[in-house]
Amino acid sequence: MRTVLVTGAKGQLGSRLMENASQNNLRILGFDRDELDITSQQSISDALRTHAPDVIINAAAYTSVDRAEDEQQLAYAINTDGTRLLAKACALHGVDLIHISTDYVFDGKQDRPYTSSDKPNPLGIYANSKRTGELAVAGTEGFRWWVVRVAWLCDTRGQNFLQTMLRLGRSDKYLRVVNDQHGAPTFARPFAEALLKLAAHAEQVPCGIWHYGPEGQTTWFGFAQAIFELHGMDVKLSPCITADYPTIAKRPANSCLDGKPFLDALQLPYLHWKEVLKQELKLG
Ligand SMILES: NC(=O)c1ccc[n+]([C@@H]2O[C@H](COP(=O)([O-])OP(=O)(O)OC[C@H]3O[C@@H](n4cnc5c(N)ncnc54)[C@H](OP(=O)(O)O)[C@@H]3O)[C@@H](O)[C@H]2O)c1
Repeated sequence: MRTVLVTGAKGQLGSRLMENASQNNLRILGFDRDELDITSQQSISDALRTHAPDVIINAAAYTSVDRAEDEQQLAYAINTDGTRLLAKACALHGVDLIHISTDYVFDGKQDRPYTSSDKPNPLGIYANSKRTGELAVAGTEGFRWWVVRVAWLCDTRGQNFLQTMLRLGRSDKYLRVVNDQHGAPTFARPFAEALLKLAAHAEQVPCGIWHYGPEGQTTWFGFAQAIFELHGMDVKLSPCITADYPTIAKRPANSCLDGKPFLDALQLPYLHWKEVLKQELKLG
């Protein structure tokens, strides 16, 4: 039985990883920031010595995209330097590392889904701190690593676009939603299942950078339409453009990631995002 150590275990993705403990015959240990701070070398080596994991899934990150523009130091300390410390500790202790990254490493100017061989060009501080985190993993020698990029992560709980739409839709009957950013809603639960399968069957997937995501694409407007339709809610939606809702940090206009090669390697089905949305709403 392989032992998996999850960092950022109380986050959106981390908490889903912790719920799938019985899957794939894995022993899963979860730590959030107060138990394992990835910016502390001492904290990392204590955890590795005490628990001797076979693999770490790094779901810990600084994820405040807009705030990062004012908190550069903190964003780099966690997403780059913390990731480098983890990678070095993994190399030292012979532990595999599965590190989570983001579509934000791309500028979104491409007109087709991004593959893992496309060239990154991050637009803001969060995006750049995640890219330099990827490079820190790839630049560390002597261990097995996988960087798995994901986009538009959401869940049927917590704080994310799906929950925001439901909250607004219950109070406002008219909503304007951005219709010029493209991507595919990606649920944390099936993503966690895929990552745990990778942890259990690492030999099936060559080390390197991979993309995770469902088939198909939409816009935030299209996603909102699907949410209200499936909930049977009568909310009048009108499309708007990104410029109508300026944000501090720039977002890529195209966040579509080609997730098929990763799912094929893991022998998992490549489902359409709408099908996954229906499944997840049923599971609750
Ligand atoms: N959410 C998205 O749409 C999205 C899209 C693409 C990629 N991603 C990537 O997916 C991964 C998971 O994202 P998520 O949505 O699950 O993020 P999240 O909900 O913000 O969870 C991140 C977790 O990391 C913890 N953390 C922060 N600093 C830490 C440190 N120094 N040491 C240990 N833990 C620390 C946080 O704890 P605190 O709460 O105490 O800060 C939080 O529990 C991240 O790598 C993110 O960049 C997310």
